[in-house]
Amino acid sequence: MGIQIAPSLLASDFARLADEAARVGNADWLHVDVMDNHFVPNLTLGRPVVEAIIKNSSLPVDCHLMIEDPDRWAIGYAEAGASSVTFHVEAAHAPVRLARTLRAAGARAGMALKPATAVEPYADLLPELDMLLLMTVEPGFGGQPFLDLVLAKLRRARDLVSRHGGAVWLQVDGGVSEQTIERCADAGADVFVAGSAVYDADDPSAAVQALRAQAERATEQAPWHC
Ligand code: DX5
Ligand code: ZN
Repeated sequence: MGIQIAPSLLASDFARLADEAARVGNADWLHVDVMDNHFVPNLTLGRPVVEAIIKNSSLPVDCHLMIEDPDRWAIGYAEAGASSVTFHVEAAHAPVRLARTLRAAGARAGMALKPATAVEPYADLLPELDMLLLMTVEPGFGGQPFLDLVLAKLRRARDLVSRHGGAVWLQVDGGVSEQTIERCADAGADVFVAGSAVYDADDPSAAVQALRAQAERATEQAPWHC
């Protein structure tokens, strides 16, 4: 699997979600941010809206849950048809059981880490996961500046994934743009979420194409890539 681009609908016009999804048909995933106003200080949308997006989009949906008690709620997003469901490890009570439940429901299981959460304690969980999301901003809002300090953790995560066999995707989310995507690819990311960099552009689909080209070039020259 090469690099993948996942535009975040958070930066789109919420009154026209299906149209906004259709503007990025050349992307690989549609990233949907679910926030509950508890795990993060912001409230977005929940299962009924995610279900409507899934029904009205040609792209698979990558659901990023920034919610408390994902052990209880995450399964509903897999049942609604999300192809990938990512929960935050800081909020999960039983991440292994949760990842297994998501896979059993037919979704890819993703686990997210906030910028200050270390990756090493979770090395043994990699076989249970399809994707590891390293947040490159504090979760909760779009349009925040990229946190360079996460790049060192990203390199260590890439190393852990390579030693494990490389099947786990490494996603970055937050502040990913034409200015920062090459640094992410160089450090080991292969799935790139971009909200404002895509939807603030005049032509979101051209922005996806440009980000993809940059990430592909940087990946070919990346030290971890062979
Ligand atoms: C923030 C969300 C992101 C957000 C990224 O907590 O998880 O997916 O949409 O937005 P940008 O790309 O604008 O930083
Ligand atoms: Zn997100």
